[in-house]
Amino acid sequence: MSKVLVTGGAGFIGSTLVDKLIGEGNEVVVIDNLFSGREDYINPQAKFYNIDICSAEVAGIFAKENFEFVYHLAAQIDVGRSVADPINDNRINVLGGLNILENCRVYKVAKIILASTGGAIYGETEEIPTTEYVPTYPLSPYGIHKLTLEKYLNYYYQVYNLNYTILRFSNVYGPRQYKGGEAGVIAIFIDNAVKNKESIMYGDGLQTRDFVYVDDVVRALSLARNIDCRGEINISLGKEINLLELRKNIEEILEAPVKIKNEPGKLGEQRRSCLSNVRAKDVLNWEPEIGLTEGVKRTINWAKSIL
Ligand SMILES: NC(=O)c1ccc[n+]([C@@H]2O[C@H](COP(=O)([O-])OP(=O)(O)OC[C@H]3O[C@@H](n4cnc5c(N)ncnc54)[C@H](O)[C@@H]3O)[C@@H](O)[C@H]2O)c1
Repeated sequence: MSKVLVTGGAGFIGSTLVDKLIGEGNEVVVIDNLFSGREDYINPQAKFYNIDICSAEVAGIFAKENFEFVYHLAAQIDVGRSVADPINDNRINVLGGLNILENCRVYKVAKIILASTGGAIYGETEEIPTTEYVPTYPLSPYGIHKLTLEKYLNYYYQVYNLNYTILRFSNVYGPRQYKGGEAGVIAIFIDNAVKNKESIMYGDGLQTRDFVYVDDVVRALSLARNIDCRGEINISLGKEINLLELRKNIEEILEAPVKIKNEPGKLGEQRRSCLSNVRAKDVLNWEPEIGLTEGVKRTINWAKSIL
């Protein structure tokens, strides 16, 4: 059993990770300011601090709790919002992350695991599925700031010997996904469809994504605690699908229309995204287990259960 901090543990992926870590017998502490997370998602067996990751109070929590492992998931996750307000995105995703890292160093955490992005870090690339060895040219402040924090992790390892693993997720979906802003097209399509409301399709719908189910992602995060491998690992289904095909799939499974209103494409939006998961198999012994049809079914069932 380990003492583990999950920043962003009230969020979609974070709260699912907290459930898994507690199920494995770990003692879990959550730091989250509930910007996009929900207190009722936090497992009652976890200890919860409702604070901002940028706050000076973070140091007091590290001093008191003595964490062995830190999962850093708290973030501003909306690419569109990062384009509209890059300074705020930098404050949360770089300075907030640096605050967590500094405390990991001072309080001698054994390892930090970072939730990074594969979907927004490589930029447009010829290599599809994209491996971790492709140069990174992010097209948004969000991607740039995630990459910046990745570089800080490597710096803290080289200079202070703080161990780390970086997981670069493709587009994650599943129950509890935040539906505000522009994050999570599957969550938005399903939520609106079960409420018989319209969703907005930005651009021509031929932009592609690679969707990975949240339980698979959380299993990868859990495994990352116990590997001795630094550097970046893509976590993805490894299958490219465009948004028109995705809409059709959801309609077939839901047996109801996904109503769409078309609007122009967004600034900073990537055209194609699909990540290779070969390295994850090699170094993490991880492969996705839940395909898109099964994952969408589970997400629809959850969306209906909270109507
Ligand atoms: N969902 C995806 O497709 C995806 C893909 C790649 C990477 N990621 C990364 O995974 C992580 C989790 O994302 P998610 O999809 O669960 O999003 P989410 O918005 O549900 O979770 C983020 C959590 O961070 C909290 N938070 C935000 N700003 C904070 C602050 N300043 N201080 C404290 N807490 C703060 C939010 O309240 C929320 O609970 C993020 O780091 C995100 O960048 C997500």
